[in-house]
Amino acid sequence: MNFVNEDVITLSRISITNLLQEIGPEEVRTEIIAGLNSDPKYISSKYFYNTKGSLLFEEITRLEEYYPTRTEKGILKQIAPGLMKQYGTYEIIELGPGDHSKISILLSAAAEMNLPSMLYLPLDISQPAIRNSAEELVSTFPNLNVEGYAVDFISQFGPVQRERPTMICFFGSTIGNFEWDASLELLQNISRQMKKGDLLLLGMDMVKPQQVLYDAYNDAGGVTEAFNKNILNTVNELIRSDFKPDDFDHLAFYNESSSRIEMHLVANRDLTVHSPHFSEDILLKEGEAIHTENAYKYSTGNILEIVKATGLQLKHTHTDERGWFAVTEFLKL
Ligand code: AVJ
Repeated sequence: MNFVNEDVITLSRISITNLLQEIGPEEVRTEIIAGLNSDPKYISSKYFYNTKGSLLFEEITRLEEYYPTRTEKGILKQIAPGLMKQYGTYEIIELGPGDHSKISILLSAAAEMNLPSMLYLPLDISQPAIRNSAEELVSTFPNLNVEGYAVDFISQFGPVQRERPTMICFFGSTIGNFEWDASLELLQNISRQMKKGDLLLLGMDMVKPQQVLYDAYNDAGGVTEAFNKNILNTVNELIRSDFKPDDFDHLAFYNESSSRIEMHLVANRDLTVHSPHFSEDILLKEGEAIHTENAYKYSTGNILEIVKATGLQLKHTHTDERGWFAVTEFLKL
């Protein structure tokens, strides 16, 4: 995790407000330790993204086997001109942008239209990531202002409500990291904050042949393996534990009955883990797994269930020609 010191950063055409204070290290430790003491053990996938993990994820997005990022960007390139014709004057909120490559596709299409001004509001857990993106974006787009928020958008979406019409972008199938019920709750929460005419653009990875899914999370170069094991480095940083990533093997497979990729770390020997924050050492038997991620894959039926749960109107689902990824427009009525 990136720790934040400043409350507000103000630069030319950029402001970044930090709303993360309330989530203290104590809560983070409690959550991690509860997962390690559960049966089966788990670590939340949000802990993948320390500095090294974010770099590894960017490397994953460029892998031959990892189709989601390039497929979604292909769809965005296709739909950007039409979308911006309709919504170019809207303020654009993006949830968990990571880098700015996806929003740049939309902003480039809007820039073609010579709008007097554009406002982009990235909401991300990492203030440094927001700042880096913001600086690059304002230098690329002369009429752009960036108003970023360092937030946990899961629990802190409320403060960023807008007066003007807004388009909310939630790309990358990040929604797939949530359990189905939790994902509906998050989308309901987002929908409640939207005003009539606002748009939600949601990127979802779709169900597809299992070998394609398997390969995307078991790349030959071992980048996903390194990404998975690196979560233990984040945990070591946060609770001062002594996990050795090489004591674990990478396991990723498609769970067909749950329509999800599961990632686990499997102990390759009996081992003991220590931390000053544990009340007792944690023991793992050889073969015991720590569950690190679910990545749900969607069907058109799921999209209709989202409509039913949120009350949003399904305007259009855009897909690539193979139907591997979907970007859906949901309208607030
Ligand atoms: C960022 C959650 C969309 O599930 O594909 C990539 C993360 N995990 N490889 C995904 C991830 C393993 C990614 N998401």
